Amino acid sequence: MTGPTSDASFSALAHGWVYRLADARTSCRAYDDRPVPDEAIRYALECARLAPSACNRQPWRWAVVRKPELRRRLIHEGFLPGLGLAWAESAPVLCVLGMVRDLLTHRVGAGISGVDYPWVDVGIVGEHFVLAATELGLGTCWIGWIRPRVVRRLVGWPYRVRPVAILTIGYPATGHTPLPPSQRRRPLNEQVIWL
Ligand SMILES: Cc1cc2nc3c(=O)[nH]c(=O)nc-3n(C[C@H](O)[C@H](O)[C@H](O)COP(=O)(O)O)c2cc1C
Repeated sequence: MTGPTSDASFSALAHGWVYRLADARTSCRAYDDRPVPDEAIRYALECARLAPSACNRQPWRWAVVRKPELRRRLIHEGFLPGLGLAWAESAPVLCVLGMVRDLLTHRVGAGISGVDYPWVDVGIVGEHFVLAATELGLGTCWIGWIRPRVVRRLVGWPYRVRPVAILTIGYPATGHTPLPPSQRRRPLNEQVIWL
């Protein structure tokens, strides 16, 4: 059961720009030494700013880390060991994505519905950022394998802001090009039920 969209019309949809952007984005784990202009980061942050969120609470915060010594400390102290994250040192910018925990959405909303909305919100905002960076020809990688408390201290956030992920960003090094996501994802019919 494939649902109401036939394969033929799906391939027509594949020419849409959102699809092409989503398919162009892959996790980039090697960067060259070209600096990333602040304007490019600002563009991605502006695209992220437009993300929806539960009750429009916008519970995300960003720390854009360009200083080499702080980047090095984030990688060596703020990343959890075991995944071989040394490649991140080639990224000229690390963007720390944090989540503000507040009473309304985390306690009241989550208590009633069982859904912890700010986690959802932060995922959406991060992907807005990543897709905007992709549009500019930049590579990114989500890093969730972090020590939130250490990262918070290093970037100087208060206790109520919890670091959720670090996004590496830079111009991709030439060489290895991973398969596009369209060739590495489960088919829709394994992910969707049409009712
Ligand atoms: C929330 C999240 C956390 C991730 N954490 C890491 C990580 O700590 N280290 C890493 O190398 N990749 C990490 N990734 C990247 C995934 O491994 C990658 O997205 C997945 O394998 C699919 O590959 P693709 O991004 O190239 O399409 C993370 C991705 C997401 C969305």
